[in-house]
Amino acid sequence: MSAEHAERYRRKLYGRRKGPALSVRQEHLLETLLPKLTPELREGADPRSYFASPSPPLRGEVENSQAQRSEFSGGGTVLDEHPPPGSLRSPTSPQGGDDYNVDDVWLEIGFGAGEHLHWQAVNHPRVGLIGAEPFVNGVAKLLSKIEEEPTPNIRIYMDDARDIISALPDASVGRVFVLFPDPWPKVRHHKRRFLQTEMLDQLARVMKPGAELRFASDDAPLLEFTLEILMAHPAFRWTAQCAADWHIRPLDWPQTRYEAKQLHGIPAFLRFCRV
Ligand SMILES: C[S@@+](CC[C@H](N)C(=O)[O-])C[C@H]1O[C@@H](n2cnc3c(N)ncnc32)[C@H](O)[C@@H]1O
Repeated sequence: MSAEHAERYRRKLYGRRKGPALSVRQEHLLETLLPKLTPELREGADPRSYFASPSPPLRGEVENSQAQRSEFSGGGTVLDEHPPPGSLRSPTSPQGGDDYNVDDVWLEIGFGAGEHLHWQAVNHPRVGLIGAEPFVNGVAKLLSKIEEEPTPNIRIYMDDARDIISALPDASVGRVFVLFPDPWPKVRHHKRRFLQTEMLDQLARVMKPGAELRFASDDAPLLEFTLEILMAHPAFRWTAQCAADWHIRPLDWPQTRYEAKQLHGIPAFLRFCRV
């Protein structure tokens, strides 16, 4: 397969990249805020390094940076408080540059509009959340949310999550979310489903022992397929003890937009432990 062919096939896997026209404000956020939150993936880099930042600025620096807040035509201001991901290290770090600001890193694959990702970041300030989502309108929605409620522990990769996973070192992430992924109902499209045995092998490599894989879907055939491959995989153990464990969404798992749409049927919430 030529490189061009391979790229076209890859694009097919995650459906549309762009929906309705973006607002001026959203376009502006994509131009100004997104680059500050996009990690420059480095093969084998500890993902906590994507959250490194300088030590707290002095008062004068705060005033200067406030003066640099940029106004834009859609109204409101964009805070220039996100350092380029991974580009800065605390010069005063007692560990000699290992001051990552986060203790653990969680990955959300296909975050849609990012409401779940944002909630997790707000509620787990010592965890770095990396979200992958190629759908521009979804990314724009998350950027608006971040602008309203700044969350320094979010990084956004507006492309295929597989790029992040392949760049991660072994045993480096503490949690992975795959929530309401596209079910690809036609048999000839089943190979496009995100979770496949080969992907589970890769997730098993990058997840720490004891890390959790959270999966949700309201599509019965996709649930059956995913349960089957996960139960057969030696690196994962389903943690459910009773039906309520997968029927009822846990308190630390906010509803996503797709769950709210109730497109297919009754949702199930699966939690697997990386053994
Ligand atoms: C059905 S939507 C669900 C969105 C969100 N998780 C929710 O529950 O509201 C699936 C999302 O996964 C994204 N997606 C599909 N393949 C992906 C990939 N390889 N990497 C990252 N995101 C992907 C799509 O762009 C789409 O926004």
